[in-house]
Amino acid sequence: MEMDKASLLASISCLTSEAQAFKKNGSSDKATRYEVRTAALALADALEFPVEQALRIVFESTPPLIALRIAFEGGFLNHFGGGETQTADSLSAITGADRTLIARIFRILTASKTVDEIGVDSYAANDLTRAFLMPGIGDANTHGCDNVNPIFAKLPEYLSQMDWVNPDTYSMGPHVFTFGRPLWKRLESEPHKSALFNKIMSAFKQNRENWVDIFPFEERLQNSVPADQVLVINIAGGVGHRLRDFKLKFPWASGRAVLQDQKHVLPTTESNSKAFADLQECDIETMAHDIFKPQPVQGARYYFFSAIFHGRPNSACLELLRNTAPALKKDYSRILINDFVIPEKGANLFQASFDLWMMADSTGQERTLREWNELFDACGLKLVEVHTLGVDSVLEVELA
Ligand SMILES: C[S@@+](CC[C@H](N)C(=O)[O-])C[C@H]1O[C@@H](n2cnc3c(N)ncnc32)[C@H](O)[C@@H]1O
Repeated sequence: MEMDKASLLASISCLTSEAQAFKKNGSSDKATRYEVRTAALALADALEFPVEQALRIVFESTPPLIALRIAFEGGFLNHFGGGETQTADSLSAITGADRTLIARIFRILTASKTVDEIGVDSYAANDLTRAFLMPGIGDANTHGCDNVNPIFAKLPEYLSQMDWVNPDTYSMGPHVFTFGRPLWKRLESEPHKSALFNKIMSAFKQNRENWVDIFPFEERLQNSVPADQVLVINIAGGVGHRLRDFKLKFPWASGRAVLQDQKHVLPTTESNSKAFADLQECDIETMAHDIFKPQPVQGARYYFFSAIFHGRPNSACLELLRNTAPALKKDYSRILINDFVIPEKGANLFQASFDLWMMADSTGQERTLREWNELFDACGLKLVEVHTLGVDSVLEVELA
């Protein structure tokens, strides 16, 4: 029997409550919730005819993100603390922006559920607003709008000019095509962009499984490393937040922990006193190191890379592995790589979208198991095991 609108809405409302309970009871991991959510989206799609769906995607995908970026830039979202509500008039008085403009931007934010609409031109923050206001979360959208969207816009032209080859060089990659310089060079010369990027990297892990939970450290750390030798080096580890997670989870593990990155990124008392204090508290050493030079620390137990290979083309990954492999001690040292292993079939939209972000941002790419193995084989390395939790993996690699 065909359902009428009221009964369909009642069923959806009932399912919505069940989905909320499913999320809250904590027994469902992120990957499972993502899978169920994908099925729920199919329910929404079932209500549209294909042309409606196509045009909705075209017109509705970008404006919510641009409105959010505008709201950040205009400081419109900074005034909802402690359950306060605002109106277009009150925000206009506080920020000096035109109240009509504010109302137009908030129309998108409320329609996209980023902010609650509690009356005519009257708004309240909700959980999503608060999530976007957390350090690094809305900033990811700022980075996307300012640094990635301009590249996305030029990708078709770039790929056409490059005769449709898979991008594999930094120097002629999509970022350079759009901005004239690669991402890392731009960040080096623009400290505020670099600080924003590091903030995003620290916040971003809230959306991913943590490497310290993915790799079976409890079991592996039973064979202890002498206190004066290096247990783990986090290569290109940013401000050290992942190494800190390791030290906080395994404070009893013996051996040194070393954070490597570019000199200007490593925290100091002057550049980033909070991150510097965090490193000191966890007894993490810092060492400036260029990943395109040979690894100077020989015979460490673990050489750890997180979100590094996926942000680089194959040519650079080979260089990185060849710079690291000679430092490994046979049958002892391991390279640990925390990135996706994209399934050959059935990749979800999160992983597939990330692949395009990586292509645009730094000529990078997410890789399948076959593509990972091709890299290792070419460098005298072999994959020992892939450790996976949800959609996140740590690839364990040793000398062949
Ligand atoms: C995407 S971030 C990942 C940071 C960290 N591993 C994490 O998981 O949050 C890439 C890192 O590579 C570093 N990097 C880029 N080029 C580098 C180079 N030539 N030598 C050393 N580090 C580099 C950047 O400074 C940045 O911290």
